[in-house]
Amino acid sequence: METFETTDPLPPDEDGYCLTVGLTYNLKKGIKSEVEDIEAEYDSIDTVIAIKEALESFGCRVELLEADAHLFEKLTDSSPDIVFNIAEGTHGRGREAQVPSILNFLNIPFAGSDETTLCIALDKALSKRILSTYKIKTPKYRLSSGNKPVSVKGLQFPLIVKPNAEGSSKGISDVAVVENPTRLKELLAKNTKAYSQPMLVEEFIPGKELTVAIVGNGEETVVYPPMEIKYIKSMTHNIYSFSVKKNYKEYIEYDCPAALEISMEKTLKNTAKKIYQVLECKDFARMDFRISEEGEIYFIEINPLPGLAPSYSDYPMITEFVGMDYRSTIKSILNSALKRYGIKPVV
Ligand SMILES: Nc1ncnc2c1ncn2[C@@H]1O[C@H](COP(=O)(O)OP(=O)(O)OP(=O)(O)O)[C@@H](O)[C@H]1O
Ligand SMILES: [Mg+2]
Repeated sequence: METFETTDPLPPDEDGYCLTVGLTYNLKKGIKSEVEDIEAEYDSIDTVIAIKEALESFGCRVELLEADAHLFEKLTDSSPDIVFNIAEGTHGRGREAQVPSILNFLNIPFAGSDETTLCIALDKALSKRILSTYKIKTPKYRLSSGNKPVSVKGLQFPLIVKPNAEGSSKGISDVAVVENPTRLKELLAKNTKAYSQPMLVEEFIPGKELTVAIVGNGEETVVYPPMEIKYIKSMTHNIYSFSVKKNYKEYIEYDCPAALEISMEKTLKNTAKKIYQVLECKDFARMDFRISEEGEIYFIEINPLPGLAPSYSDYPMITEFVGMDYRSTIKSILNSALKRYGIKPVV
């Protein structure tokens, strides 16, 4: 496994700190809503504290910068050397791009992908469309908008229905897979109302589910061994739904490195790296795939801002499987960014 050995750290300032790192985030607020998963993408304070402690352990001074209406002033007041961004943003299809846009506006270096990559990746249909032009196989789909009926001519049931621009399985319940046009119509009506956005109607690919994590840039890009999401409880259709993610111990076993033939593992890792490069991801990302019963690899979606909840989110779970503790995981992401900006890495 490639490591991020560093021999030339920044000299500490008079307080003993080597670097001021702003940590931008959006917290779950406990908003009450009929929609159970309304705050699914936001982070808990525990994740913020875990990242803060990791950063402090490298000798960084950490400024906690909640991404709210005062972010601009907070950034100008704290003038960090770099920002470690996990903020999901607030509203709209481009919300994940909001904080990176502000950081670029203020010319502040930050870890992770820029606003353009985040905008594309959050729009599942748009990223599928771009990747298909690079011959990346992705399930056939239609986009349903408002109350207009969607034609599924040319698509094969079962179909999965998911909000086009969400993450953390928000809007993907255990009944997201439909077998016929009537059920599709009902689910589209319900979800369009609940999530107020276009719905992706996509061919459901049964078979193995894999997620692939990446760190680094350019020549130093490392694709970690793929992790298989193995369904251990019988379900009509195996989906890593919102409730399965919440109760993962009951439904899932994680297998990393996944038991794949060597040639399949190599193709999958190469595909993941190509996607990372095509979408110009920076520092880290995670993406999901299905391998059909015929052995075809299908790209499902990419997360250039993957969850980092310790021992819960898939990204830190994969790095744990390969022997990295949480601290090393955060360090590998931060150092990728520091190197990219020509700032000396931390040790
Ligand atoms: N076309 C498909 N075929 C089979 N399963 C699918 C398909 N699309 C989605 N799924 C299932 O639904 C899950 C959630 O879908 P997807 O990864 O698109 O949502 P997400 O909310 O963006 O996820 P994340 O939490 O990774 O951000 C997948 O992990 C997979 O189990
Ligand atoms: Mg996913």
